[in-house]
Amino acid sequence: MRIAMFGGSFNPIHRGHIEIVRAVREMFSLDRVLIMVANDPPHKQIADGVSAAHRLEMTRIALEGIEGLEACDLELRRPGKSYTVDTLGELHELYPDAELYCMIGADMLLTLDTWHNAPELFRRAKFIAVGRPDSGSMEAAAEIFRREYGADITISGITGPDISSTMVRTAVEMGEDISHLVTDGVAEYIYRHGFYLTDEVEAIRKRLQQELGQKRYEHTMGVVRMAAELTSMCGADGKKAQLAALLHDCAKLSWDKQQSMADEYGIDISDMHRPIVHGPVGAERARREFGVTDAEILSAIDCHSVCKPGMGILDKIVYLADKIEHGRSYEGLEGIRQETEKSLDHGVIACIEHGLGYLKERGEHVHPNTLLALEELKNKNREA
Ligand SMILES: [Fe+2]
Ligand SMILES: [Fe+2]
Repeated sequence: MRIAMFGGSFNPIHRGHIEIVRAVREMFSLDRVLIMVANDPPHKQIADGVSAAHRLEMTRIALEGIEGLEACDLELRRPGKSYTVDTLGELHELYPDAELYCMIGADMLLTLDTWHNAPELFRRAKFIAVGRPDSGSMEAAAEIFRREYGADITISGITGPDISSTMVRTAVEMGEDISHLVTDGVAEYIYRHGFYLTDEVEAIRKRLQQELGQKRYEHTMGVVRMAAELTSMCGADGKKAQLAALLHDCAKLSWDKQQSMADEYGIDISDMHRPIVHGPVGAERARREFGVTDAEILSAIDCHSVCKPGMGILDKIVYLADKIEHGRSYEGLEGIRQETEKSLDHGVIACIEHGLGYLKERGEHVHPNTLLALEELKNKNREA
């Protein structure tokens, strides 16, 4: 049996990792590749404080259903600093008959002989370098290790797409789409746990997690994720959309609380139907309690449940993200998502029309602004 290990912090595992590992597995006819998630370094936190347990779980999720690729927690079960030579030793004990390989990034090749107990390291596994070799010195270094240590090193030339974990973290922070960078399950996990946000946004997320209850909190993070996807599609400001999405339901607490907030804020809700109230009250709460001053963000929170004529891009993103986030499931949802792929306006039109059908069926009130918004968008898109 041929087994390879591929170590790293995987914070988070991305599509590039998966592609490279699959290609290596094929090229070297490997039976299994163990993605070895590195332990939290002692005395210092890994980027954004995402624990080893979470990084392992994301790796598991990403590799689910992919034959021959597995997340491995061997290094997490060992206290203290993990040396690759020790991990390979453990693998030899676990799989005494296996031929062991160790995948490394091409950039690490030059310093391989400085790794802990290098002579033993080279005895315990064959090495496969992946990624772009940046110079001819790689082959020269490999040749020295072959001569000095009898090392078995292959510079595979296998490269993946230009993706890094840093790119994923930055995109999340900036409110940009990550679906091309990580698998669907990993994206869901990142947003549900609120990883890679700035401290300022993270403080708001934590507070809402406590206030909203699990279901509404998960919906909220789903809206944050969908807002990022829509933002990247139409080129809006990701950070603004992120904050608006995060706070869109910040006033959707008990009805008593909604009433008392409206009272305190001096908002007259006597003419409003209940499901609408948390929009305007939420916008005011975002301003007073969460320090939001941006008019576009406040507007998006304000009108997310009914729409309004003259909707701006942020209004549309939050309205739509609220209705089509990945956690939703209802009849007609797929149709709205397909329309959204044409354009934001197409999505909003489909979504309003779907909502109108639902309200009519149940004999419920339709807000005049909803109808005005629909008419305006339809006219505009007819002209275009
Ligand atoms: Fe809402
Ligand atoms: Fe919502």
